[in-house]
Amino acid sequence: MKHAEQVAQARKLFRYLDEKSTSLSENIYRNSVSDYICEDQAKLEQELFFRRYPLLVGLSDEIRQPGDYLTDDFSGLPLLVTRDADGQVKAFMNVCRHRGSRLVVGRGSGKSKFSCPYHAWCYGLDGALSSIPFDSAFEDVDRATHGLRALPVVEKYGMVWVLPTPESPLNIDEHLAGMAQDLDAFDFSTYSHFETRTLQANMNWKLVVDTFLETYHLNVLHKRTIAPILHSNLATFDAMGDNLRMIAARKTISSLREAPEAEWDLVKHSAMVYVLFPNTVVVQQGDHLETWRVYPDGRPNKSKMHVSLYTPEPAVTEKAKAYWNKNMDLLMATVLEEDFPLAQNAQKDFSSGAQEAITFGRNEPALAHFHTRIRAALARAGQEQLDAMETGVIGL
Ligand code: FES
Ligand SMILES: [Fe+2]
Repeated sequence: MKHAEQVAQARKLFRYLDEKSTSLSENIYRNSVSDYICEDQAKLEQELFFRRYPLLVGLSDEIRQPGDYLTDDFSGLPLLVTRDADGQVKAFMNVCRHRGSRLVVGRGSGKSKFSCPYHAWCYGLDGALSSIPFDSAFEDVDRATHGLRALPVVEKYGMVWVLPTPESPLNIDEHLAGMAQDLDAFDFSTYSHFETRTLQANMNWKLVVDTFLETYHLNVLHKRTIAPILHSNLATFDAMGDNLRMIAARKTISSLREAPEAEWDLVKHSAMVYVLFPNTVVVQQGDHLETWRVYPDGRPNKSKMHVSLYTPEPAVTEKAKAYWNKNMDLLMATVLEEDFPLAQNAQKDFSSGAQEAITFGRNEPALAHFHTRIRAALARAGQEQLDAMETGVIGL
């Protein structure tokens, strides 16, 4: 985030502190419980949000060198992301063009080609089909059209996004709207990947995102863990297209009041929560970065996610590793022992008939924005589907 913006946001936080207030929306927002349990909606969400939106697959550091690669099939499509010999990031379907075997699993480095584990068809880092064993049996196969199926990919601001639909335009700045300015100033290309953990939860993927979108619960649910560090029920909120930014103040923020504005570093004294619509939460935690990439897991009440921690410097010493491990453990403990058990019970009881809708207060504007945008995107896609059915065009 640019310094001028940090000063503006810090001033806003000081005003909330002085007035014992927080960012407020115009109205309360009622969110139907069907949003979290409806099978039809879940199906549409899978087709829309996890096919037609750019999905963050990681930071540049995870595929920093030519020959580095990572795979990910959480979107429902098998993705393979590589850095080729020219340093360009490429994305493909991780599917062999011979008989459809999964080409490679996990992540790694030092590859100059990918050899299929089934019959050893080989593909370059650029996806081109480079060799076929006993190729006289495949004379009619045109190698030029049997490379890996490419997917749109973009690397910018130290982040890598894939659009899981071949041959579709991917304009990341348009998608990020105003958030691009903040990301540009952060420059995550210098950050190092420390660890990624994979979790499953018995709740809707949007409910996972919801747990990050208000500070109202901090001094209740997180009384012993986060509440001593962050101010409760106090945060900024800014919509950035479909995305959003919410800044929570650390209790140390008061120390800025004594310093000249030119020296203010709000990053150190806050937790900056960004939702990269639809499914990624990025938290700038002062001295490190966390990402939560959340996906549905087959049913409306199941989700899975990658939780990653990135550090400003590579963690090479034992001392540094121990420090970041402790950070990761605290993060996991807070979420797994405090947020998730509660949210999973709520998920279970959405089907109880206790109420038709849950309520987001005016002090929870980020929740209202996220769900307004989800609902609007689904309505557009639903309408497109209806239109397509009328004109005989199949699919979304
Ligand atoms: S399926 Fe890949 S080489 Fe046969
Ligand atoms: Fe929480």
